[in-house]
Amino acid sequence: MIFETVTTGGCRSYLIGCEEACAAAVIDPELSKIERYIALAAKDGLRIRYLVDTHTHADHFSGTQQLAKQLGVQIVMHALSPAPYVDLKLQDGEMLAIGKLRLHALHTPGHTRDSMCLQVGDKVFTGDTLLIGGTGRTDLPSGDAGALYDSLFGKLLKLDPALLVFPAHDYKGKGHSTIGQEIAENPRLQKRNRDEFIEMMHNLNLSMPTHITEALRTNMSGGKTVAQMLAEAAAIVPFMSLAELQRRIADGTHEVLVLDVRERDAYEEAHIPGAKWLPRGQLELRVNDELTDPTRRILVYCDFGRVSTLATATLRQMGFRQAVALDGGMKAWRESGYAVNCGKEP
Ligand SMILES: [Fe+2]
Repeated sequence: MIFETVTTGGCRSYLIGCEEACAAAVIDPELSKIERYIALAAKDGLRIRYLVDTHTHADHFSGTQQLAKQLGVQIVMHALSPAPYVDLKLQDGEMLAIGKLRLHALHTPGHTRDSMCLQVGDKVFTGDTLLIGGTGRTDLPSGDAGALYDSLFGKLLKLDPALLVFPAHDYKGKGHSTIGQEIAENPRLQKRNRDEFIEMMHNLNLSMPTHITEALRTNMSGGKTVAQMLAEAAAIVPFMSLAELQRRIADGTHEVLVLDVRERDAYEEAHIPGAKWLPRGQLELRVNDELTDPTRRILVYCDFGRVSTLATATLRQMGFRQAVALDGGMKAWRESGYAVNCGKEP
């Protein structure tokens, strides 16, 4: 079996492959690492066949959809996954065949309703059901401490104690442990009584993961993250530096229409001299009246450079092929000490 681990902060994802069939599966791929999985598979001479999420992640962005789009392969989750983009839904006891490898699904609800562990050979991928020295939390949507107890003590911990445990999170860089080691040493597993275990889980008082709303929104719906929207916009937009624009304004030679897409208050407080105001929120509706020449060079800016990137992408999609975004925004412009005007432009 070919086996690779990819680390993203505290998240762990895994690539497992069958050498003979040149086939692989990626378990819990993370959005920011999708090129890495493709490169790893290529390095090992493997073709990725399956993308598996052990559960609906609330703390990071799943890379399954993006990878599936690029590779044209199946997304696999447990049957209870709410995500509409899952191609293959596994039930407890079913297997995925990856060449000669058999990936056994074990439904282990608790951290989430759709949590599953995956056993292959001497390894078990435990998702967030069992971590090294911990367990997944049960206070996020669809979590259930009693169900986690049943999944652990009734199922997962009954597997061969020698099985190697590879969790979806490993904050201490331990890599892996074994079922036996976890039974002996994992502090959460020392509460062997169901009620005591539930009480312990209810009293953890953990802070909410960052990005939980966005992670659940995108992982459950198949929608895009804000970072994806911005990256897609930035990919079709050229940029101009603050210094270049400043030089052009100072020269008086620029034929660029500078367009401020912030709200009215911000524009009137201070804007780049000569800038025209057209807020992003009204761009599509007012564009025909305000920007009559589609061949005009337009330089778009906002406060930080994000909204202007989106607005520039919109303009280019509408046919303004010479729209450019300012690299930076009004904040950086002011910090650079460049001139500003206030009020309305004549
Ligand atoms: Fe999780």
